[in-house]
Amino acid sequence: MNILEIIEKKRDKKELSKEEIEYFIEGYTHDKIADYQAAAFIMAIYLNGMTKQETTDLTIAMANSGEKLDLSSLNEVIVDKHSTGGVGDKVSLILLPLVASLGVPVAKMSGRGLGFTGGTVDKLESIPGYQTGINIHKFVENVEKVGISMISQTLNLAPADKKIYSLRDSISCVESIPLIASSIMSKKIASGAQKIVLDVTCGSGAFMQSKERAEELAKEMIEIGRLANKETVCILTNMDEPLGHAVGNSLEVIEAIQFLKGDMLEDVREVVLELGAYMVKLAGKGENIEENKARLLENIENGKGYEKFIQLVENQGGNSSYIKDTNQFTKANYIENVYSQKSGYIQSMNAKEIGKIVCDLGAGRIRKEDNIDNAVGIILNKKVSDKVEKDDLLVTIYANSKEKLEEAKKNLLEVIKIENKEIEKPKMILEIMK
Ligand code: URA
Repeated sequence: MNILEIIEKKRDKKELSKEEIEYFIEGYTHDKIADYQAAAFIMAIYLNGMTKQETTDLTIAMANSGEKLDLSSLNEVIVDKHSTGGVGDKVSLILLPLVASLGVPVAKMSGRGLGFTGGTVDKLESIPGYQTGINIHKFVENVEKVGISMISQTLNLAPADKKIYSLRDSISCVESIPLIASSIMSKKIASGAQKIVLDVTCGSGAFMQSKERAEELAKEMIEIGRLANKETVCILTNMDEPLGHAVGNSLEVIEAIQFLKGDMLEDVREVVLELGAYMVKLAGKGENIEENKARLLENIENGKGYEKFIQLVENQGGNSSYIKDTNQFTKANYIENVYSQKSGYIQSMNAKEIGKIVCDLGAGRIRKEDNIDNAVGIILNKKVSDKVEKDDLLVTIYANSKEKLEEAKKNLLEVIKIENKEIEKPKMILEIMK
């Protein structure tokens, strides 16, 4: 067996055996297969797809590519959460401290930005001092001590995914069901959770643009969860426009803090409560979904969710004075408002296009080694279906270059579609699949 034969087989749309998939994962994880060969292979999967059996074999091989976390010392049912990605998606930053404040232990390994979408790790790293790369002992110790730890993929858990994830990002091979399903489920299997809640995003700002594709991805992940004996619930959520108002790393952290302090944007609230209620249920801490939502809301009102976020940040070395006073976050050099050129109703704000605009401002990566700019991004002042008058504030841009600011301004005015017809507020929770 050699890598050229394996690439050729996938290129020619033939089914790979378990041994061939394992050969690729072992070889690429240990640098025996070059990046350019892996890139060709991943592109072949992207173009030609995989059978269910191949996707399962790929997931298991990736989950077995490093260590597996044993969280049995916590003596609790561990429920993990993951999103298939989105624009303005700050859900983990809010949801995880919130469920932890209800006694659901959170041991979460998050990702960096991928394609036009943002990543929780990049957002957390915009908090000065926050260490996303702590070792395995500290990770488990933090969960034991304060009930929550959120880290990057630095532990040797599913290292194959870490390499393939950043490779996919740099060769435009993200939007693929077998690649997304194996990426997410291999991490979840390796990170020791018994149960999994997945936010399967759907719409222009998601990797799955239609509900049918999102359902297909959800089915595949539920099936992999079943085979791995990990109960998996998928919540299909709307990602046609950015979630909330802020898009950009520190801007999203600030929005998450405001939410935890009680200033809840409606669309973010719906998604957080639905996912949270299922996490609480799967953890065995509340059977009734509506009651769980009420308990989550109570912990916003009494400040327990916010306190848990502070504890999380302090425990990971972050400077919590930034959380207490968000004015301390470094501001971009140019902050400029964009006003509506006409009256009407917001018909759409293509989230993918907005994600790209924010990446171009410097919030995302083009090459995997690129640094990102935490301060840049946008704050939308309107949501789809809102009424606008001419000269109303549409969006504020945070940029660190005059040129990029002008480019973003022009592009945003094209992306935000306004017409003189009323439309309904979009539904956020599209379906729940188990
Ligand atoms: N999140 C992941 O972890 N992997 C993907 O492929 C997409 C979203």
